[in-house]
Amino acid sequence: MTDGEHTAGFGASWDRYVEDAKAAGQAWPGDDWGDETLWRAWFDRLFVGFGVDGWQRAVEIGQGTGKYTKFVLDAGRAELLACDVSQRFLDLCGERLVDDVAAGRLKLTKIAEDDPASVRDVAERIGWLGSVDAVYSIDSLVHVPFTFFASYLLQATEILKPGGRFIATFAHGLTDAGQRKLIADVGRVVRAGGRPETGCFHWIAPELLERTAATIGFRVEICDADPLHGRDGHFVATFEDPQAAKSARDAAR
Ligand SMILES: C[S@@+](CC[C@H](N)C(=O)[O-])C[C@H]1O[C@@H](n2cnc3c(N)ncnc32)[C@H](O)[C@@H]1O
Repeated sequence: MTDGEHTAGFGASWDRYVEDAKAAGQAWPGDDWGDETLWRAWFDRLFVGFGVDGWQRAVEIGQGTGKYTKFVLDAGRAELLACDVSQRFLDLCGERLVDDVAAGRLKLTKIAEDDPASVRDVAERIGWLGSVDAVYSIDSLVHVPFTFFASYLLQATEILKPGGRFIATFAHGLTDAGQRKLIADVGRVVRAGGRPETGCFHWIAPELLERTAATIGFRVEICDADPLHGRDGHFVATFEDPQAAKSARDAAR
């Protein structure tokens, strides 16, 4: 096998993405995805609509340079744990939100992409299990195979308090724009070996996410296409069945 890229892992691919973007003069790699209008619309629908101003604790998966991290911090008084597989993204987010880190409101932690308890174990170390208002991930789980998405849902059942929310975007393969991107990306993604920094999406249908979330103990609130952009999926679910979650976690071990 000659693909050093794959054995180096997704974290290394994202580190490279950051280095290339910095070399090209971008201050905050990732701010080129979408624009402020789209970010705000998503934030209003997925976070403001689910009580972000009253959250005490939240966990972010794949914060990048932290544009949604900042929105959450500014919306209320929540303490935030942000976890990412890329050390470069963690470093830049720490630089961008240096005041929040210094104030103790933001903790940034590297996680291993091959650890099915990665975020759960960090939450346990800081004493947050069962106490978090929301676990969220925007524009990140579109890039991972669905089993990794399911792993974060499972982990969230030990992190969230009852009634807590899992909020995410997903690669919705059934929208017209999703179909166009899937087809348009074929050559580029296959030639690049599916490396995530190429924008490789892992497409799913919303029914798969709805069914999996229900199996794991969530009540699905939103699982549809973003009404503004019409391409990516929006997902919000409330954690409500600890017994179903325990059965799923036991079956996963
Ligand atoms: C497209 S960026 C999105 C960043 C940020 N959420 C935003 O919207 O600007 C994808 C992020 O997910 C991170 N990531 C990739 N795979 C991950 C995984 N398995 N677990 C956690 N984070 C991951 C990347 O390092 C990167 O920070």
